[in-house]
Formats: sequence, structure tokens, C-alpha cells
Amino acid sequence: MATINEEIQRRRTFAIISHPDAGKTTLTEKLLLFGGAIHIAGAVKSNKIKKTATSDWMEIEKQRGISVATSVMGFNYGDYKINILDTPGHQDFAEDTYRTLTAVDSVIIVVDVAKGVEQQTRKLMEVCRMRNTPVIIFVNKLDREGRDPFDILDELESELKIGVRPLSWPINIGAKFKGVYNIFEQSLDLFTPDKQKVSERVEIDDVNDPRIDQAVGEADAAKLREDLELIEGVYPEFDVDTYLQGNVAPVFFGSALNTFGVKELLDCFVKIAPSPRPVQALEHEVKPEDTGFSGFVFKIHANMDPNHRSCIAFVKVCSGKFERNAPYRNIRTNKTLKFSAPTAFMAQKKNIVDEAWPGDIVGIPDTGNFKIGDTLTDGPELHFKGLPSFSPEMFKYIENTDPMKSKQLEKGIQQLMDEGVAQLFVNQFNGRKLIGTVGQLQFEVIQYRLLHEYGAQCRWEPISLYKACWIESDDDEALAAFKRRKHQFMAVDRDGRDVFLADSNYVLQMAQSDFPKIRFHFSSEF
Ligand code: G4P
Repeated sequence: MATINEEIQRRRTFAIISHPDAGKTTLTEKLLLFGGAIHIAGAVKSNKIKKTATSDWMEIEKQRGISVATSVMGFNYGDYKINILDTPGHQDFAEDTYRTLTAVDSVIIVVDVAKGVEQQTRKLMEVCRMRNTPVIIFVNKLDREGRDPFDILDELESELKIGVRPLSWPINIGAKFKGVYNIFEQSLDLFTPDKQKVSERVEIDDVNDPRIDQAVGEADAAKLREDLELIEGVYPEFDVDTYLQGNVAPVFFGSALNTFGVKELLDCFVKIAPSPRPVQALEHEVKPEDTGFSGFVFKIHANMDPNHRSCIAFVKVCSGKFERNAPYRNIRTNKTLKFSAPTAFMAQKKNIVDEAWPGDIVGIPDTGNFKIGDTLTDGPELHFKGLPSFSPEMFKYIENTDPMKSKQLEKGIQQLMDEGVAQLFVNQFNGRKLIGTVGQLQFEVIQYRLLHEYGAQCRWEPISLYKACWIESDDDEALAAFKRRKHQFMAVDRDGRDVFLADSNYVLQMAQSDFPKIRFHFSSEF
């Protein structure tokens, strides 16, 4: 039987993130193909809501259903146990993605070679940077016309604010795309556009091997050597430690749709990506090899059937061994519970699991015992640092439209917020409830779910706000003065923390300069 250390060392828990349409779903599917978890392309359905489907409730429900099924995809690849954590395809659910990023040990970012770094990628990278999450970048769609790879590297570096180091290099792109030279392994793969087949490998000794000239022609071989020389001159040699510290991102080029460059990515990934890393708790750092079990809830997924208000709480195992039916304590509620039916998705199948190791994710059927961010342990008091909330982008007042159902509305709002669907603030001036989201779709989901799951009706009242930011100060008087001066714009979040509602960027900047003793935070983790 494997020891806990062996189990930890072989685990790779990560997420693939991208701006919509860059190829995340396609790449995920190809990784599953290599892992033998699926056997044909097309088996993983895209979980994104197509842009054409505006407010289509069935689409939203479908998305929720599909994303439960693909929330965590586990499979074995060689000696490695891989866990891919899915993130929602639609940007309006970005908050979900932020939280999922707290449960991974590394990340693969997919970038479209024609579009370069897009808005969503930039934001997600900021979250990775906050936690020094190691990042590998896959530049996708090399079979299409796109940008010069050197320009892409410059853009990655400046836009994502991270050092880059190419570990593979394309030979032309678009219609003339011939293949990829694997710098990491010194090998050459020729491109054959084929959605099912793996590329053809040319055996070579090094970059000067004449077999490269035979394979791609002299001119392209010469260009490749020139490019590689430039790379060696410009980029420092790849160093695993700088990658693990989150300072340098290795870059691969390929075409996910054509299954090209994907295996190279995966082979390098399992070698260099970190196994489960220590997690910081308020009390101390928790190492995966610590014997006692600990974990935290990073995602709660509601049941699709409105008649059964049950959910699945997803727990990331941080230390020790998780065992079915063992008593575990939810630190927040101080309740000790036993879980008889924890599940995990392995090779596309949902199974009840008897045990799980650090890095693994278990799904626990729940009827309201859990809240996002809860810590579970086999006894000791431990608080993993809360999951970050980010200042929402859109705000609306929520109003009850059926006075007979105000209790249901209260309960519905509370549970949806526990699930992390959106953020609730209470305006301290008028006592009204404000809901903050990342996108319009979340308001529609909330309204729909309140009605269908709780029988409560609400309407939204617009409010023009630029940002909600958490404020604090070491100087109590300065804080009190600020709150007095801005009393119409003060709110509290669900944990009772002070939040300043700035109605424009100008107002925020003025507040920052007028009140130098106040610290303004755009994420709840400070
Ligand atoms: P996402 O999850 O990041 O949103 O992207 P997804 O994988 O769904 O890919 C977005 C579109 O890009 C899909 O086309 C997909 O087929 C295409 N694509 C992915 N990788 C490559 C690639 O390497 N080369 C080329 N040429 N295209 C690629 P679609 O038309 O939107 O969807 P579908 O109808 O093909 O499913």
C-alpha cells in the first residue's frame, strides 16, 4: 500500500483557465483523452452558455447540471493522479472561478494565438498572483493565422506581469504551420491536422540534427535555429524553482483542436507542476503530510431539482487522509458529522469513495450544513484563511414583491449567498439590501432560483455604483470620521465588515487622497 507521501507526490490538482473561446474546453477534453478517461473527442460538452442564448433558463439549468458532472475530473496518467478542476465558461460566473483557484496547486492558462491576452485572462492571472500559484501557458490555435510568437511572449510578459520561458517553439503558424520543436525534451513533432490522432514525432539528437531539415525544409529549419538562438539569448534558462514560486511561466505552443502539442504539455506538466502544497491556516501552516485530516469547502453546488433543496459541497483535502464515515468537525458550526456517501469523479464516473488524499476533491451531499470557506478537521481547531471575495462589478437593490413571502425571500437570499452565488451588502444608511455580482446573468439566476426553489418573488432596483471596497484603518478615529462623512455610502458585508460604496472612480480617488489613514481593499482577503 502506498504511503501518504507517495500519494501526495503523485497528485497534480490544477485548473485550466482562459478567456471564453480560447480553447479551455477543447484542451480539457484532449487531456482526458490522453488520460484514457474518455475515448472519443466530443465527449465533454462545453459548459459555456452560448452567447446567442440570452437569458435562456434551460441553458442556465443545463450549465449547472453539466458543471456538476464535470466539476472535478480525476484520472490517472502514468504514475500520476490528475485532478482537473473545472471553471465556469461564462464570465458572469467569474467569482466561482476565483474560488476554485484557491483549491488548486497550479494552473494552465490557455491563450488564443490570434487574440493574445484578453480581459478575463488578465483578471484570473491577478488571482493566481495573489497566491503565487505556478502557471503554465498554452498558446492555442497555431493552425490558424495569428500573431508572431515573439510578440505573443512579450504581450504575455507585460500583460500578465509574469516572466515567461518558451519550452516549445512553433515552426510557422496558420496555413504554413509545420510543427513544434520541443525545447524541454529536444524533440520535433510534425503537425498533421487530425482531431483524433497524436502528432508524428521525428527522432532527433538536437537542434542541429539534419533530420530537422529533411522534415520541415531547409529554410524553416534555419529559421527555427535562428529563433531558438534568440530565445536562448533573451530568456534565462528554464528553472523549475522560479516556476514553482510563480515568477516564471513556461510557455507551450500547439493546437488543442488538432491534439497537437497537448501531450508535450501534459508530459512536462506532470514532471514540473507541484504536488499539493502547504495551506496557510490562521493557526499555522498545514502541510499535506500532516497526519490529521483537514480540508475546506470551496464550492457548493445546488441540486437541479427544486423539490430537493440539497447540494453538493466540494471539499479540498489539505492534509491527512479523508475517510468515509469518519467523524469530522465543521469548525464554524462546531458540529461533528459523518459522511456516508462522499463522491469523486474518476474517469468520468461518479463513485462513492472510501478515502481521499491531499490534493483530492470530495463531493459531500449536504442539506445546508456547509457554507463556502468552511474548514473541516478530524478534531483540532483550525481556520483556513477565508476564500477571497472580490469587489463586484454590478450592484442592484433587491426588493420583495410578495409581502407574504418575506421569510422565504430572506432564507433564499441567505442560502444563495452561502453558496457563493453573489455578494450581499446592507446599506447602513437606508438598511436596504444590495446584491453585487460579476455580471447581469447572476441577477437573472438569483431571481429565477428564488422563485423556483424558495417560492419568493423579488425585483431589482438599479443603483449606479462603481465599486464596493472593504475599508480598514489602524486609527479608530480616522475610521469613524470617514464613516461619518460617507454615512450615506457605508455598507456592511455578510461578516459585518465595513464596505465603502463608491459611485464613481473619481469619488473613490478623492476618498483615497482625502483619507490617507484609511486602507481601501478590492478583495476581502487582506
Ligand atoms: P472555451 O472553453 O475556452 O470557451 O473554448 P472551446 O474549447 O469551446 O473552443 C472555442 C472554439 O475554438 C471552438 O469552436 C473550438 O472548436 C475552437 N478551437 C479550440 N482549439 C482550437 C484549435 O487549436 N484550432 C482551431 N482552429 N480552433 C480551435 P466553436 O466553433 O466555437 O465550437 P465548436 O462548434 O467547434 O464546438
